[in-house]
Order: sequence, then C-alpha cells, then structure tokens
Amino acid sequence: MEFALNANHQALAYLVSAILFIFALKGLTHPATARRGNLFGMVGMAIAITATLAGAEIQNYGLIVVGVSIGALIGIVIAMRIQMTAMPQLVAALHSFVGMAAVLVAIGTFLNKRAADALDPLLMGELSAGIVIGAITFTGSVIAFTKLQGIVSGAPITFKGQHALNAAIGVVTVLLAVHFAMTGSTLSLLVMTLLAFVLGGTLIIPIGGADMPVVISMLNSYSGWAAAATGFTLHNNLLIIVGALVGFSGAILSYIMCRAMNRSIINVVLGGFGSDGGGESAGAVAAQKGVKSASVDDAVYWMEDAGKVIVIPGYGMAVAQAQHALKEMMELLQERGVDVKFGIHPVAGRMPGHMNVLLAEADIPYDNVQEMDEINSEFQNTDVALVVGANDVVNPAAKEDRSSPIYGMPILEAGKARQVYFLKRSMRPGYSGVDNLLFYKDNTSLIFGDAKDTIEGIVTALKGGGH
Ligand code: TAP
Repeated sequence: MEFALNANHQALAYLVSAILFIFALKGLTHPATARRGNLFGMVGMAIAITATLAGAEIQNYGLIVVGVSIGALIGIVIAMRIQMTAMPQLVAALHSFVGMAAVLVAIGTFLNKRAADALDPLLMGELSAGIVIGAITFTGSVIAFTKLQGIVSGAPITFKGQHALNAAIGVVTVLLAVHFAMTGSTLSLLVMTLLAFVLGGTLIIPIGGADMPVVISMLNSYSGWAAAATGFTLHNNLLIIVGALVGFSGAILSYIMCRAMNRSIINVVLGGFGSDGGGESAGAVAAQKGVKSASVDDAVYWMEDAGKVIVIPGYGMAVAQAQHALKEMMELLQERGVDVKFGIHPVAGRMPGHMNVLLAEADIPYDNVQEMDEINSEFQNTDVALVVGANDVVNPAAKEDRSSPIYGMPILEAGKARQVYFLKRSMRPGYSGVDNLLFYKDNTSLIFGDAKDTIEGIVTALKGGGH
C-alpha cells in the first residue's frame, strides 16, 4: 500500500495517543477539567484509529468501512436517544462488545495461525487469556445489562453451593487453558470458551441491588484486560497500554466505590446483598409508620429566610431531571441572601460522578458543589437539608443500626440540619432496599411527588414573593 505508515511512524503515533489518553484520564478526575479530558481522549482516539488504518498490515478497506459506518450509525442513534438514567446499562452493553471482540479476535488468530502452522505455547497462552477474560466480560455484562434494564430482577440470585460451583468452573477452565496452550487441542479451546461464557453469568447473578454499579466498574476493568490480551495477540502496543489503563482505572474505581460503601470487594463479588426495592406506596403508609408529610409551602417557609440550605441530590433527581429547576431555585434563594450548597455523596445516583454531571449540565457552579467529606461538618450550621431523590446516602442506619446491611457506609449527615425535607414519590426504600431511619426523626418531613414538580412548585412560590 503506497501511503502505508512505516512501523516507526506508527509506533510514534501510538505513543502520542497513549500520552493523550493519560491526559484524558487526568482531566476526567475533576468536573472542571472533564471536558478538556474528553477532548484529549477524542484526539488520542482519532490519532490511534488513523495510525492503525494507515498501517502496512491492512489489506482491504472495504469491510472496515462498512463495519465502521454501521457501528457509527448505531452509536449516533443511541447517543442521541439515551436517557442519563440508562447510562449504566448502556455501559454494560458496550463492555459486552469489548469482551466478544476479544473472544473473536483470539479465535480468528488461532484459526489463521493454525492454517499457517505457526502456533506456539506462548501465543496459545495469550489466546486463552483473551478468550477467558473476554467471554467472562461478555456474559457478565449481558447479565448486568438485563438486570439494570429490568429485563430480569435486579435482586441477587443465590443458591446453595453457588461459590463452590463457580470455583469448580474456574478451576476446570484454567486447566483446559493450560491443556490448550500445551497441545493446541481444539476441543479444549471450545470447552474452555463455553465454560468461560457460563462463568461470566454465574459470577454476576448473585450480585444485585446497590452493588450493581460496582459490578459495572469491575466489568469495565475486565474489558480493559480483555483489550490488553487482544493487544498481545495482535502485537499492538497501543491496545496493550489502553487496555491496561482501562483495566487499572476500572479496578481503582471499584475500590473507591467499595470504600465509599464500606464494603470489601470480595464481599461484593460473593454477592447476595441488596434488592431491587419494595412495593409500598405513599401517604397512608407514611402516616402509619409515623412519618410527617409536608407541603411545598412548608419547605418554602423554612427556606426563604434560611441562612444556609444544603441540597442533597440522589438517584431520584436524575430520574426526575430536576437539576435545571434546582438551579432556578438556587438563584432565587441566593437573591434572598441564602447560602445554597450541594452536597455530593461518592455513590449518590447509579454511577460515579452521576450527580456532578447532572449539576454541571444545569450550569450549577462547581464552587457551590461540595463532596461529602468537605460538607459534612457544615450540616450542624444548616437550616434546611433538602434531600432531592436521595435515600441511602443519608440513611443514619449506616451509623446507628449494627444489623443493617449498610452499616458502616459513610453518609451525608443531613439529619444534623435544623429541618430535613425529603422529596420523593412514595415510602419505597432506596436502592439497597433498606428502610431509612431519617424519615422518622422529629426534624424530618417528606414532600411526596416527583422531585421536578416539587422543585418547580418551590420556584413558583419563591417567585410569587413567598409566604
Ligand atoms: P437511592 O438510595 O437509590 O434512592 C433514590 C430515591 O429517589 C428513592 O428513595 C426514590 O424514592 C426516589 N425517587 C426516584 N424517582 C424519583 C422521582 N422522579 N422524584 C422524586 N424522587 C424519586 O439513591 P441515592 O441516595 O442516590 O443512593 C444511591 C444508591 O446506589 C446507594 O445505595 C449506593 O450505595 C448505590 N450505589 C451507587 C453507586 C454509584 S457509583 N453511584 C455505586 C454503588 C452503589 P421513590 O421511589 O419513593 O420516589
């Protein structure tokens, strides 16, 4: 091919992309630099794709153009239609593609090399790693997708002997991988692949409820390792580097999430924690349980003359898309001299940074947004804690109830504010399925309804001059 890049130029281009990817990760660590980080990532990826396509090894562009065009079209349609609340399952679906790609590349390489009689134990060891990690990532991600999409119950599926079964499948898979690497046996390859697909499913089914985001981040890590294994197979250094970056960042993120929930990664992987929520609903149940319900006017009465209001957004804010109304509410309160802040728990919502992204989308200044550790000491000087569609992240059971499954998880200390208002639709618990002890405290009231409608009601009341 006339315009093919020579190997040195390609290696240089790959090095530049790798550096850009590292800058991308650095940028993505803070909301203020996230856009720049994304830009670095996009430029790095454009360079990587161009350098790969211009490489001497590509012989036929026809299939690549067709494949990329179809993929790009599907990607554009999904990106335009996807709801923010459906991001976790989209991420799970995308991880499954990485896993399947690793399996297919490894099997394709095996067939090519066998035809050329160029199989050796090292290569077959690499192929086994790519297939096993890729297949586990694939079925694991498909199961995670079906749970998060509500196609199957999000609750953990557990049965007796589950861990022993997983361990047995794992051991047999590894033995088959070793046998394949030593003999090149197609039968070992097939059974190993099949078992790895099964293992991906059986590893993920016992995990449920609040642990699903950790699973997504772990699968993200696996997809990185699957890509790295593919990089070894294809002798592509960039794929190895990028795979390792994804693998490690997913692993670090999983660790951070586990720490924020006071769980160990082993405990998450072994599963059985959480549910996908109960079926109780609103007002009557609230009264029965000794919970006070309040109106928009009550909240406005307390907030308009407050010195300080802390808003605690959670998953429900994302569902209701209440962030723009919250921005308006913040500005109206600020005009009255109220200090308004947003307190973000590290695992609020359903994915890391979920709340930060939504608040940034509504142009809420970063200076008004504080992380849990920074803001917790401020609640005791706060007049109103407005909990907007959050639940688990303010549940004092995490501190007070040793028997609670969320015991030990650090929380936002909303209960220390003078008044606490919960904006939610019913008495249903949060994602962990655990009842919230804060509902029953003297200074707490619940305003039932969709969070966006309630905040819009507050905005209207504030605009109308208050009460
Ligand atoms: P949750 O505890 O899940 O509570 C969300 C609340 O929002 C529910 O009480 C729900 O009550 C309410 N809600 C839903 N739709 C609403 C709407 N349209 N309007 C008003 N309220 C609405 O949320 P959280 O406090 O953000 O906690 C996150 C959970 O996910 C934690 O358990 C956490 O451990 C887990 N988790 C998150 C992550 C990441 S990375 N974010 C990672 C691991 C685990 P109603 O149904 O009554 O309205």
